[in-house]
Amino acid sequence: MNNYDPDKSPLIEMKGVIKEYNTRKGFFCRGQNKVLALNDIDLSIQKGEIFGLVGQSGSGKTTTGRLLVKLEEPTRGKIRLKGELINDLCGKELQKFRSRIQMIFQDPYQSLNPHLSISETIMEPLIVHNIGTMESRREKIIKTLETVGLLPGEAFYNRYPHQLSGGQRQRVAIARAIVLDPEFIVADEPTSMLDATIAIQLFKLLTRIRDEFNMTFLFITHNLAAARYLCDRVAVIHEGHIVEVNTAEQIIRNPEHPYTKKLIEVQPGFRYNR
Ligand SMILES: Nc1ncnc2c1ncn2[C@@H]1O[C@H](COP(=O)(O)OP(=O)(O)OP(=O)(O)O)[C@@H](O)[C@H]1O
Ligand SMILES: [Mg+2]
Repeated sequence: MNNYDPDKSPLIEMKGVIKEYNTRKGFFCRGQNKVLALNDIDLSIQKGEIFGLVGQSGSGKTTTGRLLVKLEEPTRGKIRLKGELINDLCGKELQKFRSRIQMIFQDPYQSLNPHLSISETIMEPLIVHNIGTMESRREKIIKTLETVGLLPGEAFYNRYPHQLSGGQRQRVAIARAIVLDPEFIVADEPTSMLDATIAIQLFKLLTRIRDEFNMTFLFITHNLAAARYLCDRVAVIHEGHIVEVNTAEQIIRNPEHPYTKKLIEVQPGFRYNR
């Protein structure tokens, strides 16, 4: 699968992005330590791509995603959406940006508010962005539930998260992410807490959403097999730096960077079966 066209301009772009965190040295010590979570990230994703970001724990995957959706700000460097700098957005422009970009989190048990029904969960972004009337919101929510495979939509409308399986909860999280018809979605290890058959169903769902709505995804994973299944291109991140970008197939068959080779060695089934 490849939706990448080298001649197209990027939908989203990071240039020279650095993210430093200050942490306290310890309970009894004064002063701060600096953690360099991202070290000079360059990344460029095209419209309609499912772009994988693969790396080991602590390599900076979630930090990259959080910066792209502006949950956090970079220490240095530039981030652009359709050529427009997002670093300094504020007020109305920032609110508009927030409707164009969404994030799906790893843990479907933590990411949904247990006190909100499924319809309230999906309605929240429509209320925040003042979209639709009560009637049109209900219709939109039912349609979105059906798009993510929760059928019939009415049957899920008044349920609560504790009445759903992990896979169904993650479908609700996806419904909440797509209800505003965003241009770009960051999916941070959305299937790592689910079993393999449910993960495959969700991969098919993400692919269908991409195809139907021409949406663009950053798919964060530590699992190269998942990236190979789902992604057009993959970036390998190591210690906060992108070391290699290519199709998943090329990365697995002809890894260029020594870290990528190591990553492949530790993936079950990949060492002998390329
Ligand atoms: N809020 C924070 N304060 C201090 N350090 C942080 C913070 N968030 C992340 N870090 C550090 O930044 C680095 C990258 O973290 P990040 O969560 O992006 O990694 P990751 O690749 O998503 O890991 P995982 O696969 O375990 O989710 C780590 O060293 C982490 O400890
Ligand atoms: Mg993470």
